[in-house]
Amino acid sequence: MLVTDLETPVPVIDLDRVEQNIARMQAYADDHGLALRPHIKTHKLPRFAKAQMAAGATGITCQKLGEAEVMADAGLADILISFPLIGAAKAARLAALAARAKMRVAVDNPLALDTAAEAAQRAGRPIGVLVEFDSGMKRTGVTSIEDALALLRKVRDTPSLRFDGLMTYPSNAATAEFLRAIAPLIAAEGMAAAVVSGGGTPGFAHAHEITGVTELRVGTYIYNDRMMLEAGAASLNDCALEVHATVVSRPSPDRAILDCGSKTLAMDLLPRGGVAAGYGMLLDYPDAVIERLSEEHGMVDLSRSDRAPALGERVRVLPNHVCVVTNLHNDVVLARAGVVDSILPVAARGLTR
Ligand SMILES: Cc1ncc(COP(=O)(O)O)c(C=O)c1O
Repeated sequence: MLVTDLETPVPVIDLDRVEQNIARMQAYADDHGLALRPHIKTHKLPRFAKAQMAAGATGITCQKLGEAEVMADAGLADILISFPLIGAAKAARLAALAARAKMRVAVDNPLALDTAAEAAQRAGRPIGVLVEFDSGMKRTGVTSIEDALALLRKVRDTPSLRFDGLMTYPSNAATAEFLRAIAPLIAAEGMAAAVVSGGGTPGFAHAHEITGVTELRVGTYIYNDRMMLEAGAASLNDCALEVHATVVSRPSPDRAILDCGSKTLAMDLLPRGGVAAGYGMLLDYPDAVIERLSEEHGMVDLSRSDRAPALGERVRVLPNHVCVVTNLHNDVVLARAGVVDSILPVAARGLTR
């Protein structure tokens, strides 16, 4: 079957590009002596997690327990959860995971640390801990050296836990500064951060320049998207996922309506450009702008395009942010040179817990 025979809207993934992206990131990590721990939140597919491991990854990263459970079910055996887990229900699930996989968690507060400790105790196996620090994103992550040291001392003093090191996102100049300041203080505690995990596809090519970082967590690189084009981290030939859509209406000469709305493309805009840049790039009509989305309609402004798609025409959309797009779809199509290879359920999609 050809991808052009598929009903739209449908996300189509080019396997040749995926394989090239996996190989290239692994080569970068290997060349610079970095461990690669891909974040599976982009693809949510055991098949690709296994492909990343087969290429040389040391383990995978998950953001949620639900993702980790799907991956452990599929046989992935070394998992970092890069998100604070808090409470008894999370501890029970983390314990069940720790009984069958090598688990590591990121913590930035004492409650998350207690949850990990309870899980490790229940599992009867140590759980590795990375203390997360903020590199300027103002999200999770301790914001001071003192808070980091207090947490790592608490990890050291908790017998069921193992201090593995530090984590941050994204890695940048602030990461280097924090590491420079904390390294002698960790040593003075008689401890060592065996792992310093940084990440982010946009700046991945500079990861090796940050002294002290040992591990690279990247997710988006497997497919890439319009944000990665904007960031200069990818070219069009590196973009592996396209949403195929159909022009279902041409109400006026300067407007086309697609059968993909916010439930297909998601509402993410580019950091620069905003609505003016649209909700995705029409690959064959780069001057057309997907200016509005309702749930199932994509409104395309053709006023600045000297060509226009015809009613009924199939078009290809490069999403702005691919990770949220895969999460919206029950299944994705894998293809090679326009021929369908397989249709896979997005096994770890929609798992918000
Ligand atoms: C904690 C964490 N690590 C790693 C990543 C991977 O980043 P990217 O998709 O830019 O490669 C993310 C992305 O959101 C993240 O939140």
